[in-house]
Amino acid sequence: MLYPQNSLTRRMVDLSGFWQIHFDETQSGRFEAGFEGGEMIAVPASWNDQIAGRRDYLGIAWYQTEFALPWGWRGQRIFIRFNSVNYLAEVWLNGVRLGEHEGGHLPFIFEITDHVRDQGNTLVLRVDGELAADRVPPGQIAGKENITFGAANFPDTTFDFFPFCGIQRPVLLYCIPQTAITDITVVTEIDGTAGIVSVQTAHTPGEGFTTRCTIQGHSTFQTGEGENGSTTLSIPNAALWSPQAPNLYALTVELMYDGAPVDSYTLEIGIRTIKVDGDRLLLNGEPVKLLGFGRHEDFPVIGRGLMPALIIKDYGLMRWIGANSFRTSHYPYSEQMMQLADQLGFLVIDETPAVGLFFQEPGLDRRSQLCQQYIRELIDRDKNHPSVIMWSLANEPHTSTPEARRAYDSPNFTVIEHSSQPAAVEAFREQAALARALDPTRPITLVSWEGAVEESWQFVDVICFNRYNGWYQQSGRIETGVQRLSHEIDVIHARFPGPFIMSEFGADTIPGHHADPPEMFSEEYQAELLSQYIAMLNSKPFVVGQHIWNLCDFKTAQGVIRMGSYNYKGIFTRDRRPKMAAHRVRQLWTGQTESD
Ligand code: GCU
Repeated sequence: MLYPQNSLTRRMVDLSGFWQIHFDETQSGRFEAGFEGGEMIAVPASWNDQIAGRRDYLGIAWYQTEFALPWGWRGQRIFIRFNSVNYLAEVWLNGVRLGEHEGGHLPFIFEITDHVRDQGNTLVLRVDGELAADRVPPGQIAGKENITFGAANFPDTTFDFFPFCGIQRPVLLYCIPQTAITDITVVTEIDGTAGIVSVQTAHTPGEGFTTRCTIQGHSTFQTGEGENGSTTLSIPNAALWSPQAPNLYALTVELMYDGAPVDSYTLEIGIRTIKVDGDRLLLNGEPVKLLGFGRHEDFPVIGRGLMPALIIKDYGLMRWIGANSFRTSHYPYSEQMMQLADQLGFLVIDETPAVGLFFQEPGLDRRSQLCQQYIRELIDRDKNHPSVIMWSLANEPHTSTPEARRAYDSPNFTVIEHSSQPAAVEAFREQAALARALDPTRPITLVSWEGAVEESWQFVDVICFNRYNGWYQQSGRIETGVQRLSHEIDVIHARFPGPFIMSEFGADTIPGHHADPPEMFSEEYQAELLSQYIAMLNSKPFVVGQHIWNLCDFKTAQGVIRMGSYNYKGIFTRDRRPKMAAHRVRQLWTGQTESD
């Protein structure tokens, strides 16, 4: 899905700003043509923290805004694009229903050419933020004990972050020519010192059109049938893309008719390769090690809303600490975040919104359909980013059978053959096959907590493992926990050989709380636990990545294990102040000390 842009043939305006919202607790209202007396609300941003009294409201809310069609757009094809609305959105323009989309964090568009007026357009959304067992991420199964944490939390999530709702990223109005480029897919290879750029394009139906692709003045024409074409450009002495040197090239695709461009789209591309080779992960043919974090898009007042200054701040923190990568836990991040990953040189494990999955009824089929929808939408959105090196199908699905869990957690640590629920294995077999079919160029992973009993790791290329030994297990005993984990990692690697990433490890830490000797929740304990994990992980050649959980403290649902409804495992506070562990990790990852 191409991101709207201003070019010789295209225009885009951002409808961000102050809209109106009406909270419809009784779900009685029908406000498709607009409503009177709504409250003011900022878009983009979640509604939970910005509107008084609405923190825990996950029900129905109606949004509306007015806009005029920019001068000169009439005669073009006109669209509206929602970059993220969580959770379910239904959209009307001037009282005409445009359609709906389920799932936050991924964009969706509607064509409005035939419905948009020159003046006085009323855009209305009905947004539903409810948690439910047949949604992804799911709510709990009503009447059953909390599948994630022993004690119930509120709101009743199966995941460990606050379920912020609303129009959380920009809404864009844009126009394209009547015959236009509709898709571009770029795949890069390296041949000696040359970069090989394969470009596939698609355009809206029309006879007599050709497509010209240009990089650095070097042009070539597509060959192919009708609306779909492909070509390959060879860039001599190519400047490759990597975290150390995030070189980008401008690829311009022009749709030509009678020798003149009728549409033009420019895409920033990076020439790089990513491959698994035995136990190694190779970037541009060289082993690469991922140092970084699991994160969240989370900040006071805006909730999960887009805030460009926060993106800049967080990349600055990661650069300062020596990180070169992150995972988009537990949902796709904003397109602005992804564009900067390309420009600044960060390696991204790009994760779908599938977190907290379970494989019992109710809702199993619907959850599987949604997971596949999200894989399609995520790959369609992010397939051309050089920074994206891996797709993550899900985070911590609850897949193991009870007996497998008991055997695995027992002191003698046995792994039984059929350790995952058959429905889980089938679901991930299908999802892995779908991801590979859509993008055969990138490795895929499944981020699991289940350990060596996670049968679905047979379908992936890289093992991503979350573990909290020394915190939830072997609490207060870091050495014991790290020893146990070291053994567990060897067992996993024996069963699932290949590159291994410790995708989560950490400890809740109250800023300013100290203890000597270290004890849980103190800054000393977090720094010591991370130090011992990093030393152990560095001792294993097949461990190609270490992602600390989390970069920053973040908001969660209320629950007895989340004081103040925060997860305090950040090595920075929620307002981005460093804890002791930030300095310790910087020293471990860069060799820099505080005085440097
Ligand atoms: C899990 C989960 C995270 C959660 C973390 C924790 O591994 O993936 O979303 O926040 O544990 O309990 O801190």
